[in-house]
Amino acid sequence: MAKHETPLLDQLESGPWPSFVSDIKQEAEARAKNEKGVEYQIPVDVCEDLLGVLELSFKHGRTHWKHGGIVGVFGYGGGVIGRYCDQPEMFPGVAHFHTMRVNQPGGKFYTAEYLRQLCDLWDMRGSGLTNMHGSTGDIILLGTTTPQLEEIFWELTHTYNQDLGGSGSNLRTPADCVGEARCEWSCYDTQALCYHLTQEYQDELHRPAFPYKFKFKFDGCPNCCVASIARADISFIGTWKDDIRLDQEAVAAYVGGELPPNAGSHAGRDWGPFDIQKEVIDLCPTECMSYADGKLAIDNRECNRCMHCISVMPRALRIGNDRGCSILVGAKAPILDGAQMSTLLIPFIKVEEPYDEIKEVIENIWDWWMEEGKNRERLGELMKRQGFQKLLEMCNLKPDPRMVQEPRTNPYIFWKEDEVPGGFQRDIKEFRKHHLR
Ligand code: HEM
Ligand code: HEM
Ligand code: SF4
Ligand code: SF4
Repeated sequence: MAKHETPLLDQLESGPWPSFVSDIKQEAEARAKNEKGVEYQIPVDVCEDLLGVLELSFKHGRTHWKHGGIVGVFGYGGGVIGRYCDQPEMFPGVAHFHTMRVNQPGGKFYTAEYLRQLCDLWDMRGSGLTNMHGSTGDIILLGTTTPQLEEIFWELTHTYNQDLGGSGSNLRTPADCVGEARCEWSCYDTQALCYHLTQEYQDELHRPAFPYKFKFKFDGCPNCCVASIARADISFIGTWKDDIRLDQEAVAAYVGGELPPNAGSHAGRDWGPFDIQKEVIDLCPTECMSYADGKLAIDNRECNRCMHCISVMPRALRIGNDRGCSILVGAKAPILDGAQMSTLLIPFIKVEEPYDEIKEVIENIWDWWMEEGKNRERLGELMKRQGFQKLLEMCNLKPDPRMVQEPRTNPYIFWKEDEVPGGFQRDIKEFRKHHLR
């Protein structure tokens, strides 16, 4: 018998999608039975009280968590999101309900053994509930009490060789697309770069030293499977510089209907036979492709590497061999001054260990933003306030037409004094000699 009546939540157990309510109830039951004889370190009925408080929120249409919460582990300034229920008498099982962020592996590849160990730890010292994964990438351990934090941290680091993720005004946990592990479009090893930079900047991740939060994300190609362009202050997006590799025989197989377009992604509906002209040539954004006499041609100089043709004919077209990534900066959600996607800063950079060139870019940006950024000002906002030009100067980069979608239309152009013959120091009397009042 459940501890609380949950008539509203019970409705979410119907329907075909996996029900989080059924799952939490299952965990609540498992804890009550405790077949493994676990020495639970937080209330056994934590899951039931969570459902209880959630049901109350469904009823009231508002949250029942108190404002904020500052908890953590010694040595670190982040990694744990403290949280307290505002009805602790009614739901003592979730009086403390802190979330721990655990740094996930690249591409989120796991072994059953690793996950089992983590579950054993969390069953005993936490609620048994998780989020796989947080939007930033972390494994999220959802709900424990303050005294358990150091215990869990000790176990994570000493037994599992596993660190916490980031939270607060610091470098947050970096994340990547699956990359070369399973994708023929990956222009660099996203997991290697993500792992390397995560390790390189552990200090910046664990001890907040920034004006505000800062995120890295790594996409192997412009398809952006980890959405770096929208969800990271620095977005690393793979690309290539030479020609798209073309297999005319495979093109013929697509045209002949032997290979399904888009690897069969649209097989659920009859779109008619594949029409290379209509589905590829005419959709190329730069109109740099042609198909004549059974031969596909690409004017690679005009290709902007949008991925469309490659995505439609993955067996016939392949990324080039001269690979690297573009670096874009400044993406953020609306607060305070409006949403931003990242802006192209470096059109092409090689991605080669030990990634010194890339680190130089990161550190130049940090030097600028850490000094000039206002309290709780994202990089994207500093770029707006001080100007893209300033960012270029701080990164020792020359302006490049690829850095703008279009030139400015307004004529409010600033010149540096040394660019103007005679400088800015002028004498009105000198002017009056020629122009009487
Ligand atoms: C013979 C007399 C004048 C001539 C031939 C003249 C001519 C012009 C011209 C050609 C422009 C530029 C328009 C444009 O680019 O769109 C202009 C702008 C302007 N003029 Fe005059 N003007 C005269 C007198 C005055 C006077 C007496 C005043 C104010 C007391 C004045 C105030 C302005 C202002 C405020 C602008 C706009 C400047 C800006 O674009 O920010 N002008 N004038
Ligand atoms: C109580 C008196 C005045 C008020 C309340 C006033 C108000 C304003 C306002 C609100 C603007 C627009 C500013 C903007 O768009 O950012 C403006 C622009 C302007 N005003 Fe006035 N103004 C007054 C008197 C004057 C006088 C006496 C002159 C000239 C003799 C003048 C010349 C101009 C000019 C040239 C602009 C355009 C500036 C630009 O576009 O950069 N104003 N004024
Ligand atoms: S972003 Fe590109 S390389 Fe990475 S998984 Fe997606 S399609 Fe593949
Ligand atoms: S990648 Fe995009 S721009 Fe380049 S040829 Fe293919 S469709 Fe055209």
